[in-house]
Amino acid sequence: MNKTIRLLQAHHSSRSYKVDPIPEEILEAIIESARRAPTSTNSHEISLVVVRNSESRARIAEIAGGQPWIAQAPVFIAVIADLYKTGLGVKKAGAEQVFQRSLEGILAAVSDVGIAMATLMTAARALGLGVVPIGGIRRDPQAMIDLLELPPNTFPVDGVVLGYVAEESPQKPRMLIESFRHEEKYHPEALKPAIDAYDRTLQEYWQKIGRTDGLSWSANMAQQYGTFSRLIKSVAQKQGFTIEV
Ligand SMILES: Cc1cc2nc3c(=O)[nH]c(=O)nc-3n(C[C@H](O)[C@H](O)[C@H](O)COP(=O)(O)O)c2cc1C
Repeated sequence: MNKTIRLLQAHHSSRSYKVDPIPEEILEAIIESARRAPTSTNSHEISLVVVRNSESRARIAEIAGGQPWIAQAPVFIAVIADLYKTGLGVKKAGAEQVFQRSLEGILAAVSDVGIAMATLMTAARALGLGVVPIGGIRRDPQAMIDLLELPPNTFPVDGVVLGYVAEESPQKPRMLIESFRHEEKYHPEALKPAIDAYDRTLQEYWQKIGRTDGLSWSANMAQQYGTFSRLIKSVAQKQGFTIEV
């Protein structure tokens, strides 16, 4: 199999890291790969904040709800939706930026964050590092904004932990392909059997790795998507993001 495809299909998050630093040339290669990633309308609306300071990483681990791997691994990269940068361009051209006040603006910025995240993770793994994406920083985005001194019209959407893996973790199984790949049109009838099968598969997986607190996919979704767990609207509004149109 092609090396890149093998790497992508071997994806797994790692949550156990050595303290060994990441050589500068490796970090540079990873960041340069993400800088080359596409952005909507060539907006360049992504900025990365590379956090290596151990006190800052410990603080981010706390902000994210107690995630020790953020403090343990040598590098955390915050991926910022950056409409401050684009606003400077708009202003230079004599106009006023309004994009951050639209659903389209938010969707475009978040898509670009996702692409940057995926690129960072793929590049890092290609260079022998382990990764775990971190959305937990949205538990307290104001604390991240304060820590990173982010300007208006920016938002810390996600981050990624990078480091050399101490203890490898097994790959988490995925839902059946029929729930993911639809031919010509969406096939809702494929979902129930796929969900039933995945609930069983995930329970087996938790048993296999000795996790007694592991939930089925449905129960996890009820916990995560059945409640409003992260109340970020007021912080987003304070930063300048609203949905007027
Ligand atoms: C946008 C995003 C945010 C995530 N946030 C966290 C997080 O805060 N902490 C964590 O441990 N894992 C986080 N994850 C990792 C997911 O839990 C993980 O990708 C998923 O369970 C599948 O496991 P795998 O990555 O090992 O295949 C996040 C993943 C994504 C894509």
